[in-house]
Amino acid sequence: MQIDELSSSNDPLLQPFKLKHLTLKNRIMSTSHACGLDENGLTGNKYQAYHEEKARGGLALTMFGGSASVAPDSLWPSGQVDVSTDAIIPLFEQFTAKIHHHGCALMCQISHRVDERNAMPVIGCRRLAHRRSVRRYIAVFPRRWTGMTLTG
Ligand SMILES: Cc1cc2nc3c(=O)[nH]c(=O)nc-3n(C[C@H](O)[C@H](O)[C@H](O)COP(=O)(O)O)c2cc1C
Repeated sequence: MQIDELSSSNDPLLQPFKLKHLTLKNRIMSTSHACGLDENGLTGNKYQAYHEEKARGGLALTMFGGSASVAPDSLWPSGQVDVSTDAIIPLFEQFTAKIHHHGCALMCQISHRVDERNAMPVIGCRRLAHRRSVRRYIAVFPRRWTGMTLTG
């Protein structure tokens, strides 16, 4: 039985949840995780189908993106969505339409991991951070950010 078929239940988990303009049809969601179905960082058919099956099952919100990378200096080596270029836009439009068709909302987790774990070095693009420190998981020596960095 699908979640939607249980909507007459008094179970609190199955009651709608309203957050300002957004109403989720129940309290069941899937949190962000790198499902590994991206194609070079893009959310193609396989990636979309994975989330669509959950939406079809009655989920109210599916979070995706693992944590999607917003800039070329914070890409993961693999397995994460890359939203740093416009190539993602038509795929997101297609993805959104498929998920909304099932009355499910989407939310993309995004981050810039410049000062975080495992950011992939990009040649000619040195990472910036609010402090100069070696990061935990790999030896990364970020350059300390100053206001001049962005304006100079
Ligand atoms: C394989 C895997 C990958 C995950 N990747 C992410 C991620 O990229 N970003 C994130 O915020 N959480 C990530 N998570 C954490 C999940 O979103 C979730 O918070 C966690 O699995 C706890 O929920 P659960 O008890 O229902 O599994 C990941 C979890 C798993 C199992």
